[in-house]
Amino acid sequence: MLSEKLEDALNDQMNWEIYSANLYLSMASHFTHVGLSGFAAWMNAQYQEEMFHAMRFFNYINNAGGHAKLGTIEAPQHDWESPLAAFEDALEHEKGVTARINKIADLAVQERNHAVGIFLQWFISEQVEEEESVGDAVGKLKLVGDGGGLFMLDRDLGTRVFTPPTNA
Ligand code: FEO
Repeated sequence: MLSEKLEDALNDQMNWEIYSANLYLSMASHFTHVGLSGFAAWMNAQYQEEMFHAMRFFNYINNAGGHAKLGTIEAPQHDWESPLAAFEDALEHEKGVTARINKIADLAVQERNHAVGIFLQWFISEQVEEEESVGDAVGKLKLVGDGGGLFMLDRDLGTRVFTPPTNA
């Protein structure tokens, strides 16, 4: 059972996950456009992961007796001045997602809705990984700068593939 306030918060996050997916797909398009196919593949995997997150919210809301409602999704940015700028934006974005999830978890505690709290636990752990993987890419991009190392990193990050977790 969901209160109206909690249902709205979960719907808001579902739509924010779709925005996140669009943001990363837009970064994938940008990287394809500038000839960095490895970074594009990494962002494409991230896009798929975000849609997986969105669907977790979608299914949870409906299964909990609520109504998952799709809203208007704002257009993301289309271009970035460098790979580092894009990944730094991604890191800031993920920190923002973590703050949003924590806020909904706080609301679940206030309302003593432990079922929602348990549902959100997966996302709380997931956000630690999300910030770590994007932060790792930012760190590597700072190390390699604009030289030939960028192409090696492009090849390295291009090996990423999204596999839906089996415990989800
Ligand atoms: Fe769905 Fe990257 O948080």
